[in-house]
Order: sequence, then C-alpha cells, then structure tokens
Amino acid sequence: MNALQRDLKRLVPMVEAAGAARAAADLHRQKLHVQPPVGWLNDPNGLCQIGDEYHVFYQYGPFDPTGGVKHWGHVRSRDLFHWERLPVMLYPDEPFDCHGVYSGSALVEDGMLYLYYTGNVKHPGEYDYIKQGRGHNVCLATSRDTIHLDNKRCLMYNQDYPAGLTCHVRDPKVFALDGRYYMVLGARTLDDHGEVLVFESADKLHWNHINTITTPKAFGYMWECPDLFELDGQWFLAVSPQGIACQNVYGCGYFALQGDWRTDCTLSEFHALDDGFDYYAPQSFAAADGRRIQFGWMGMPDADYTNPTVEYGWQHCLTLPRVLTQDGNGCLLQAPAAELNALRGEARQPADGETVETDPCFDLTASPAGDFVLTIANGLTLTYTEADRTCTLRFTDAAIAAGRTERKAVLDAPCRSLRVVGDASSLEIFLNDGAAVLSTRYYPAAGKVAVQLCGAGSTLYSLSI
Ligand code: FRU
Repeated sequence: MNALQRDLKRLVPMVEAAGAARAAADLHRQKLHVQPPVGWLNDPNGLCQIGDEYHVFYQYGPFDPTGGVKHWGHVRSRDLFHWERLPVMLYPDEPFDCHGVYSGSALVEDGMLYLYYTGNVKHPGEYDYIKQGRGHNVCLATSRDTIHLDNKRCLMYNQDYPAGLTCHVRDPKVFALDGRYYMVLGARTLDDHGEVLVFESADKLHWNHINTITTPKAFGYMWECPDLFELDGQWFLAVSPQGIACQNVYGCGYFALQGDWRTDCTLSEFHALDDGFDYYAPQSFAAADGRRIQFGWMGMPDADYTNPTVEYGWQHCLTLPRVLTQDGNGCLLQAPAAELNALRGEARQPADGETVETDPCFDLTASPAGDFVLTIANGLTLTYTEADRTCTLRFTDAAIAAGRTERKAVLDAPCRSLRVVGDASSLEIFLNDGAAVLSTRYYPAAGKVAVQLCGAGSTLYSLSI
C-alpha cells in the first residue's frame, strides 16, 4: 500500500462519518436505490455476483457533492435491494490513475475479482485535454476477498490503442467467451466520430485490438460506457453517445448487432434505453440464475437541472436493478428485478380517477386500454395519447422539478401496460413491459404522495425496506 492510499483510506471514512447526520436529515434520501453516503455518485461499475452476493461499485466523489476526483464506492447485497456499504475499493493513488479511477467492469474467475477500469491522468500544461494532455489508461486491480486489493497495474496506455484516436478512450467492459477474453472500450476519433474498440486476450493481461464497431456516418463524437452482451442468441451493444440530437444533454441507448462483432458486424437503428431526464451510463452483468441485470446512473452529465440534495452534502443514485430481456425483434425490455415484489405491502385497487395518498415508496401497475393521465404529487403528469402513441412526462410544479420540464416517449405499439416505481426522490416509469422507460428524480414535499390515474383502474402497493 502506498502512502497516498494509506492516508485516503483514513480520510474517506472520516469524511463519511462527518457528513452522515446531514445526509440522513434529507427527506429525499432514497430507500430502494444505491446512493453515496456523502458526496457524488455517477456510473455503476464492476457489477457482478460472487456466490450469493451481488456487488455493485460506483463512481464516487466522497469530498464533493458536485463531483471531485473519482474513486470506486462499493456495496453488496443478497437481494438487490438491501445494500451493505463496504469500504471504498479503488482510490486514485497511482501515477496511472491519479486524476480519477474512472469507469470499468468486473470479471470473476476462480474466486478472484478482476476489476478493469480507466486510469484518468491530466498532465499539467496548456492542453485541450481531448487531443492532448490526458492519459486514459486501461488498468487492472485484483482482489481475492472483494475487500482488499492484491494488486493494481496499468495494462494499456494511450499509445497502445489504434491510430487516429483522441486521448478519450475509456470504460473497459470485459467478459469471457469461448475460452477467450474480450474487452470493449469507448472512443473518440480525431475527427469526432464515436466508436467502440474490441480487444481480445488469452490471459486477461495482454490485449490485441481485433475490431472497431461504429456507424457508417458519425453518430456523436464520443461513445462512453460500452456494454456488449447477448440475450437468446442476439447480441446488443449499449453505449452512451455524446454529441447526438436527443432530449437530454447526452444520449443513452443500444444497437442490435448483425454478424460477428469480433470481425465484422452491422448495427441496427439506435434505440433509446430511457426517455426520462435522469439516465446515463448503464452497465449489465449475467447473474448466476441466467438473468441479465442492468443498473444505470439516475443522473445526466452537464444537465442544467439540479438536485437539492446537494444542500445535504450528497448527490445522485443508481436506478433500480432492471432485468433485460428481448422481444425477438431486436428490442430490449426492462423490468424491475422481481425481488422488488417481496417489498410490497398490501394491494390497494384505486378506481379510475380516484386519488390515493401513498408512501413515497410505491409500486403502481395498470393495464390501460387507451388514453390516460397519471398525476403524482400534484405536480407531475404522465399523459398518454393513443392517437400518436406518445407518453409525455411533464412537471407542472416547479417546486418538485428542480429545473426539469418535459420529456416524451413515442411507443412502437399502443400502451397496454404501465408500471411506476416511486422512491423518496425518484420515479421510474415502465411502459409496455419496459419497451419504453422514463426515469426522473423529483422532490415531493414531506409526507404522503397523492397519486391519481385517470383512464384506467390500477393496483398500488407501498414498498417498505
Ligand atoms: C460517464 C463517464 C465515463 C467516465 C466516468 C468518469 O458518465 O464520463 O466515461 O469513465 O464518467 O466519472
């Protein structure tokens, strides 16, 4: 352990202890979602299952609720909803990662945890930090017990990547397939083309670039946080592209792939993963029972809307764990992991148009047959019009919106199922079994939350944890 790591290991728990009471006083502290104890959270990292425990790491800035230098926070759970906080796993404490232990993934083999991540380095000087002045290194940390690190090393520097790229090459996602290892990395070319680099390895340490996946015409200037996975024989590539036209500052979605991504493949049209305000940088992993479980960051980089939780010294959370399936036509479906159902209290069945007061943590399901309007906390509406199959999420009360206004999802089929999961300061709305999703943070007043659905009856459960 080097001296910087030794001191950071002492300092972070002190900062967490000092901020705990202030964070706990915030009524918008989430109950069901992974959130930082203090400070800032962004992307989910290193998702995996070891034995009967799920591990989630996340981009964590313990010293600053508006960002700061990134560490890897760490929580574990047996049921995906009750999370135990563990010590920070990765600190920015080596020359190859000293300006941030950026995003990456986990590989578990023979009881050993391999964490692949991006070491961010900013060289002092007059640089643009895009084409010059920045190191984005592929690094590997290993652990036998998931708590203590055995080793941290740099596997690839920028000079080891193919020619024609800017310094922005990051977010390794690593997995094993057919006795080999594969890594995808998000990249920005010198002419501002977002792409994904595919590498192959026989030993997890030495990597060869074997293919580059991109669109024929530039689709944004940078693809962040790639995730490559298979569902029932169909491969999907999820990316978070910067520089595309979309409702948010940056986009986030997936392509279905045709052909072999190791050699040559073509991409389907791009599908948004979530049409809400707060969703970015998702990652998934294969659970032991065969499910593919995905978490996203319930936030948006560089957004102009805000989160009043900053006044309480913390900001952001992950989404619910969402199980991914595919519909047979190259489209993904997202559903909250079924473990959520165990948190449900007694079912209430509000009639069409009836207003009910519920705990902020709730789970509402309905099977609409046409137009509907859902109103939550007297300040936010979800309006569906069958004529154009459009769902509009609109804040009508600025007090709960913290700068958010309106987002739309246009459905491929008439809306026949609606599910909304509420937490203290978030809503995740699943339409047509998760063919479309809208996620948003919101900031209701203390006490119960009023919920009214006009256009269909519903079933409403409160959730307790
Ligand atoms: C996405 C991202 C990643 C990067 C990380 C840094 O939100 O920009 O590309 O690794 O956040 O925190």
